[in-house]
Amino acid sequence: MSSLINLLTQSAGTLLGLLVFAAVVWVLASDITQKKHTILRNYPLVGHLRYLFEKQGEYFRQYFFAGDREEMPFNRATRAWVYRTAKGEGGVIGFGSTNDLREPGSIIFANAPFPVLEEERLPTPSLLVGEGFCVKPFAARSVINISGMSFGAISAPAVQALSKGAALAGCWMCTGEGGLAPYHLAGGCDLIMQIGTAKYGIRDAEGNFSAERARVLAQQVSAFEIKLSQGAKPGKGGVLLASKVGSEIAAIRGIPIHTDSISPNRHPDIADVDQLLERIAFVRDLTGRPVGVKTAIGGEAFIDELCEAVLRRGLHYAPDFLTIDGGEGGSGAAPQTLADHMSLPLAEALPRVVDALMAAGLRQRVKVIASGKLVTPARVAWALCAGADFVNSARGFMFALGCIQAMRCHTNTCPTGIATHNHRLQRGLVIEEKHLRVANYARITNKEVDMIAHACGLRHAREFRRHHVRIVQTAGHSLLLGELYPYPAAARVTA
Ligand SMILES: Cc1cc2nc3c(=O)[nH]c(=O)nc-3n(C[C@H](O)[C@H](O)[C@H](O)COP(=O)(O)O)c2cc1C
Repeated sequence: MSSLINLLTQSAGTLLGLLVFAAVVWVLASDITQKKHTILRNYPLVGHLRYLFEKQGEYFRQYFFAGDREEMPFNRATRAWVYRTAKGEGGVIGFGSTNDLREPGSIIFANAPFPVLEEERLPTPSLLVGEGFCVKPFAARSVINISGMSFGAISAPAVQALSKGAALAGCWMCTGEGGLAPYHLAGGCDLIMQIGTAKYGIRDAEGNFSAERARVLAQQVSAFEIKLSQGAKPGKGGVLLASKVGSEIAAIRGIPIHTDSISPNRHPDIADVDQLLERIAFVRDLTGRPVGVKTAIGGEAFIDELCEAVLRRGLHYAPDFLTIDGGEGGSGAAPQTLADHMSLPLAEALPRVVDALMAAGLRQRVKVIASGKLVTPARVAWALCAGADFVNSARGFMFALGCIQAMRCHTNTCPTGIATHNHRLQRGLVIEEKHLRVANYARITNKEVDMIAHACGLRHAREFRRHHVRIVQTAGHSLLLGELYPYPAAARVTA
């Protein structure tokens, strides 16, 4: 009798073991083959913990962890908004906001007592970049666009998903300084080719600017952007560590494989504002495309000098656009000392640049693109109020691709396949799925910027002005942006 009981117990144990094993294999197989969740494809079984904590955290984190608004560089509330938006799940919340409007720097839009009716709203107009000054001006439709992230800093599937998503949403994508890769062409979106200080992808065998290459590229891109600096590391060129420089990236950049790719800290052939303006006019004449400049801002001197030189030399020498990157900008790899302390934050840089252009009467000639943590509609709308025409985002679109802010872009071990060339990790990033998220994020951000405009009593987002937004100074005291940064007197009529 006892041996029968033993046998039955053993069999039950074996059966249970088999069932557990089968369940584990089944979960493992479905995790690896599903296409929606990057983390589960890359980390089957254990990846469920992330989703469990994400979901259950809503109930428990108040007892253990920091609040929704406390993490840096992007807090949980912001990331969660982008994730939901990219999945098309809507940006509606219940109970109330966790945003503390007593914090200095908080943005408060001035709601109109009688907002515009639906039938009074207008689509946000496209703007022509380079109109009247180049053969092929570029009609830019979307307010939010994809900021430069080089193929090298980010992976081939990430570039492809961004390109296809941008094409669906009608926004542009900047190549970043790593040159034009075939992956940028995957979706057929408008491309801005960045000319970095090493001139990757647009240089000859000696590393100098290649006019021949520029002419070829002009057939594939809508505009060129000369990069002077980016907010995360002004005074330092691009850095791509050897671990990320495989044969394909080395070939596109024209550098040796598996060596650090370090660009000079400035263009060796552009040493002052006059040389910059000459280079702008030269590339525009050569390619027929609009040419702009990307820079971080250290103070008013540069922009004042630039305006003065344009007025002295003529409008043909003006950049068709200026991309102003705030000191809070991100990077694939940057020294922490520069990232923490160098260059003005966008909140200060953007109005100063716009004011200098207005005072010089160049505001219509030079389009302004702003970047630096502009990943939510409120931040984008603030930038339009301050005077930007467009906004670029890098990390907003990384979140749309599934970035979890692991902060390992420089190590080639990004767990979501975005900033790594490890094929196993890239497997989690399914282009057919993620490009839709990129498109959703861009479209819904534009839509919600319009929503803010309508609540302010405007017909569309291009009607934003500085008196539509207030900036909190101290708890209970806010000022209009127009009081903090009054429009220059001479330009007030056109402001
Ligand atoms: C992974 C990564 C790679 C980047 N690569 C470039 C680059 O090649 N050229 C450039 O001008 N900026 C580069 N940037 C900076 C962004 O284009 C952008 O200016 C900055 O991150 C601010 O936008 P954000 O706050 O929306 O990320 C990079 C940023 C990230 C996060």
